Amino acid sequence: MKYGTFDDKNKEFIINTPYTPYPWINYLGSDDYFVLLSNTAGGYSFFKDARERRITRYRYNNVPIDNEGRHFYIKENNEVWNIGVRPTNTEVDSYVCRVGLGYTKITSLKNDIEATQLAFVPKGYQGEVHKITLENKSDKVKELSLYNYIEFCLWDAYDDMTNFQRNYSIGEVEVDNNTIYHLTEYRERRNHYAFFHVNTDIESFDTQRDNFIGMYNDTSNPIGIKNKTLSNSIAEGWQPIAATQVNVSLQPNEKKTIIYTLGYVENDKEEKWLEDGTLNKSKSHEMIKRIQTEEQVDELLNELSEYWEKMLSKYQITSNDSKLDRMVNIWNQYQTATTYNLSRSASYFESGVGRGMGFRDSNQDLLGYMHMDQIKTRERILDLASTLLYDGGAYHQYSPLTKKGNEGLGGGFNDDPNWLILSTVTYVKETGDYDILDEVIPYESNQNLTGTLLEHLDKCFTKVSDNLGPHNLPLIGRADWNDCLNLNCFSEEPGESFQTVQNKGDGLTAESIFIAGLFIYSAKPYIELLKKLGKKEEASNKQKIIDKMASSVMKHGTDPDWFLRAYDAESNKIGSIENQEGQIFIEPQGMCIMAGIGVENNFAQKALDSAKELLDSKYGMVLNYPAYKSYDYKLGEISSYIPGYKENGGIFCHNNPWVMCANTVVDRNEDAFELYKKIAPAYLEDIQDIHKTEPYVYSQMIAGKEATYSGEAKNSWLTGTSAWNFVAISQYILGIRPEFDGLLIDPKLPKELNNITLKRVYRNTEYVIHISHNEDKGIFIDGEKQETNIIAPVKEQIIIKVHLWYFPILKESF
Ligand code: GLC
Ligand code: GLC
Repeated sequence: MKYGTFDDKNKEFIINTPYTPYPWINYLGSDDYFVLLSNTAGGYSFFKDARERRITRYRYNNVPIDNEGRHFYIKENNEVWNIGVRPTNTEVDSYVCRVGLGYTKITSLKNDIEATQLAFVPKGYQGEVHKITLENKSDKVKELSLYNYIEFCLWDAYDDMTNFQRNYSIGEVEVDNNTIYHLTEYRERRNHYAFFHVNTDIESFDTQRDNFIGMYNDTSNPIGIKNKTLSNSIAEGWQPIAATQVNVSLQPNEKKTIIYTLGYVENDKEEKWLEDGTLNKSKSHEMIKRIQTEEQVDELLNELSEYWEKMLSKYQITSNDSKLDRMVNIWNQYQTATTYNLSRSASYFESGVGRGMGFRDSNQDLLGYMHMDQIKTRERILDLASTLLYDGGAYHQYSPLTKKGNEGLGGGFNDDPNWLILSTVTYVKETGDYDILDEVIPYESNQNLTGTLLEHLDKCFTKVSDNLGPHNLPLIGRADWNDCLNLNCFSEEPGESFQTVQNKGDGLTAESIFIAGLFIYSAKPYIELLKKLGKKEEASNKQKIIDKMASSVMKHGTDPDWFLRAYDAESNKIGSIENQEGQIFIEPQGMCIMAGIGVENNFAQKALDSAKELLDSKYGMVLNYPAYKSYDYKLGEISSYIPGYKENGGIFCHNNPWVMCANTVVDRNEDAFELYKKIAPAYLEDIQDIHKTEPYVYSQMIAGKEATYSGEAKNSWLTGTSAWNFVAISQYILGIRPEFDGLLIDPKLPKELNNITLKRVYRNTEYVIHISHNEDKGIFIDGEKQETNIIAPVKEQIIIKVHLWYFPILKESF
């Protein structure tokens, strides 16, 4: 069943009902100001940090779900409805929501009134715009009232939902004609405020929530709207809101537009007040001035669409598979940019109060993002590296506002350091910017403890190589990529967090084969980089270490038919045929083969056969099989999940692409693409009712084959799935991958893909690559066969044509 369809021409997804199986959202904003907006206009806003600068309030896990947002109500006589249908649920004659790149547009028709809410965050603007258009489609004059409603959050989202004894007595506002200022705590230690502005005269307003909603009503039937006007209440404590009423009279076929802006302003401490002691509004006035007319709004919207055009233009493909084109050209890149912006902080599954920028997560996001924006990538790498601990470990997260490591969570996730090596080296391959390696940056966010980025990388490397267990494999620490495989935790206390509780094991025994694979995968190009820098000796020493690691994996990290997952704190095997449950895990099968382990002696092929046989299912590969059926304190959180969900036998979409990549490493092109199609959203269009989450983005997890509700997805949007799937399809399957000296052209296409034209901008050179099946195998430039498949960029921004005459892997087809 379908609740919407793709519109490739406009780069939109068109949702055709407000009652999707879950709220389907979009993200507005790509700099500092962000909005989550659902298809019924639910959601919230924040500046930089979803916890510390929350602008509007949102109640997670509510009944019904998704109640707060930027709702617009229309009243005609005594009938009230919403443009986005909810929260009144008044039936409308038609409804459509267009999810676009950085904007959402909801249109509905009722009583011959066509109403549209167009929402977006202009580039470089610390605020959001809602352009409302009302059109009278009848031949009678219409007298309407248009109401808006938003509820302010008192800035710190966590405190806001817990500390009521204080917070019910601090809320403050000021109303200045058609602008409502939210000023809570501005009198004391804060130097920021929010403003809500309507570009036309308002009839009335409310800023005290109970006056608008009513103590025993809710957003579906606000009492304020029942009266002729709102009560012009001024909030003192309780819950400050911005609700306004605008009366609109429409002649037959007349159309009117009203523009609403919600903005955020910071003033220097000395400039908080004017001389007469009143609020310094100058910055808000400037912002308001920029958004007064329809032309201004249209212009800003144009700018936004140019921005996205440019972002996506670096990798574009035309193939014989429109679903593939749609994923690669639009949605996969768009989602990855969103993960760059927000890491795992705020979604409809991440409350925005728990997690900042993840060290591991954000490094991985860069892998799929850096071709779009190298300036921001550089900045992020340096931010991440600045939180590295002096011993090469990492703060697992940092705050986007202060850029300081999160003391509460600390470190001890022993895979963390490898991801910084991988993102940095990949960045140098993308840009040729070797200078970044000489940047002097802090450790531990401490300006007095510094070193170059290259020195940071060395610490990352030795942190792993110096911390090996009894089998010469890396110690796992608190956990590796799999946050839930907690082999030293032994938690038996209810409520204890697996992520933060002090480990009880000595930490010197449990080892991770996954980290070994990742260590080698990230160190190989790092060693290449060291050679480029002339550090031959260091390179050769490090080479010896990774060679040794590879042989430890083959010797101690394998079962007859696949890679083991780990050794526990008593040196028992995990992910082995010897286990009752959790006999095989996906992570090492993907990562070890990507690192090249077992490729030469055909072990890799055997491991992939096993993965296909035991892990694969209709909806993708599960993380482990069989799932754990009961809690085992020696394994930790993994065994706490219902079998078939999350890290316990769920289809964790993040590491399916590792298996896709691994398949291309051993030329199993059909298998790689087959798996790609199983989890790529565009191919799941027809099972929207089973899948439930947004059909235009990846979700972190799909319930696995042992789950009752197999195929049902959760945790959409903010997941490393997005970057890794983009890497798998663009760099491994389509096979266009940056190397130090040029662009590698090495497609590993399945038979069904043919006649592809690919455009890749790399170091200011636009590569136009035609790929088609032809017996005359090779890469041709201007008809000339090339000796190498790494094609160097030309300095000027000119177009070179690379014709890749590609011989399909299965020669028997000719
Ligand atoms: C979540 C985390 C990620 C982790 C994964 C597996 O997606 O954000 O860091 O690797 O779970 O546990
Ligand atoms: C839980 C989740 C995991 C996530 C972690 C961090 O363990 O299962 O996916 O990475 O929490 O918050």
